Amino acid sequence: MIIEPRMRGFICLTAHPEGCAQSIKNQIEYVKSKGEINGPKRVLVVGASTGFGLASRITAAFGSGASTIGVFFEKEPAPGKTATPGWYNSAAFEQEAQKAGLYAKSINGDAFSDEIKQKTIDMIKSDLGQVDLIIYSLASPVRLHPKTGVLHRSALKPIGQTFSDKTVDFHTGVVSQVSIEPAVQEDIDNTVVVMGGEDWTMWIEAMKNAGVLADGATTVAYSYIGPEVTEAVYRKGTIGRAKDHLEATAFEISDVLKDLGGKAYVSVNKALVTQASSAIPVIPLYISLLYKTMKEKGLHEGCIEQMQRLFADRLYNGGEVSLDDKGRIRIDDWEMRADVQDTVKSLWSKADTDTLKEIGDLAGYKHDFLNLFGFGFDGVDYLADTDEMVNIPSIL
Ligand code: NAI
Ligand code: NA
Repeated sequence: MIIEPRMRGFICLTAHPEGCAQSIKNQIEYVKSKGEINGPKRVLVVGASTGFGLASRITAAFGSGASTIGVFFEKEPAPGKTATPGWYNSAAFEQEAQKAGLYAKSINGDAFSDEIKQKTIDMIKSDLGQVDLIIYSLASPVRLHPKTGVLHRSALKPIGQTFSDKTVDFHTGVVSQVSIEPAVQEDIDNTVVVMGGEDWTMWIEAMKNAGVLADGATTVAYSYIGPEVTEAVYRKGTIGRAKDHLEATAFEISDVLKDLGGKAYVSVNKALVTQASSAIPVIPLYISLLYKTMKEKGLHEGCIEQMQRLFADRLYNGGEVSLDDKGRIRIDDWEMRADVQDTVKSLWSKADTDTLKEIGDLAGYKHDFLNLFGFGFDGVDYLADTDEMVNIPSIL
């Protein structure tokens, strides 16, 4: 079929397999161009099919030759209906790994469930024995709690007071005022259950009990801080409470890993266009101003540049892992640089529908958004008849 982008709200309903494959190839080329990383050899990535998790998997495999197991929740294709992009990404990743002689297998299902954890542990046992690194990179709006059976829904709301500020519809470029009512306690609790650290702990404890964690095993989850303009709706909002919980959980997991000589880290990453971040109000406007500023200063990075730097300069630099005063890895260091933030702040006050075309990188935003779904890549013939029924080799 001829596959075109079909937009609905914050998502695109279609994905292009060849474009997703091109995206994987580009990311692999980038990692290889930066040279070998003396990193982990057996890696589990939970949330491995898009965004930071996918970039982590690519960095581990093509930066340090790691065998990887990827867990994710994606929709497979049906005749005339494309898969979700993470499906095509994972298919292409496995193919490239195979070509390079690297072990790569995937598990598609709900990572919050006991069943998928057990399936993953069984796969590690039979294929790899143990793992050295576990990347925890889930972003989900819901979690079915495996012990209570309750379906929790996260919220993206401020806490304590109504939030009002500018936001942009990145499809149309229209800047408007948005108002979000404050969360009730239940919203906060649910968001912490979905995006906090409980499930991360469940993974690590289950793996430890099963004996599949290697000596010195490391685990990393991803967090975000960001600027003042997004604080009310992000870091001091419901999602921020979940990130507080996730960050606190790293210390608890480090205790669990102590007798193995292992450690849990949280890495604070840069704001980037992903499926998860596009759904958060205000963030797209901030990102479009940030992209403009960081590109002008030669500091712009995407997920793969961020993850390559996390592995090479932080986790596997041959020495100490540098941490901030709260014990976190910071690869949002360039985003948070005073000169970058000062510029963004002054642009923010000027941003409206007319000025944004000039002062913001809306084109860059849209381009990256299309790229998430495999559209807009050089070297892909989007007019060609394309087979949507692509298999993931290890899943079929
Ligand atoms: P993403 O939406 O690109 O990736 C989410 C991944 O989780 C996908 O692989 C998806 O298949 C998987 N997933 C979702 N629900 C699942 C389930 N129930 N079972 C199994 N897999 C499931 O998101 P992104 O942006 O890469 O986010 C990853 C982490 O990075 C999140 O913790 C996010 O808060 C954090 N982060 C994101 C930033 C951004 O600007 N995008 C900035 C800093 C941190
Ligand atoms: Na991810």
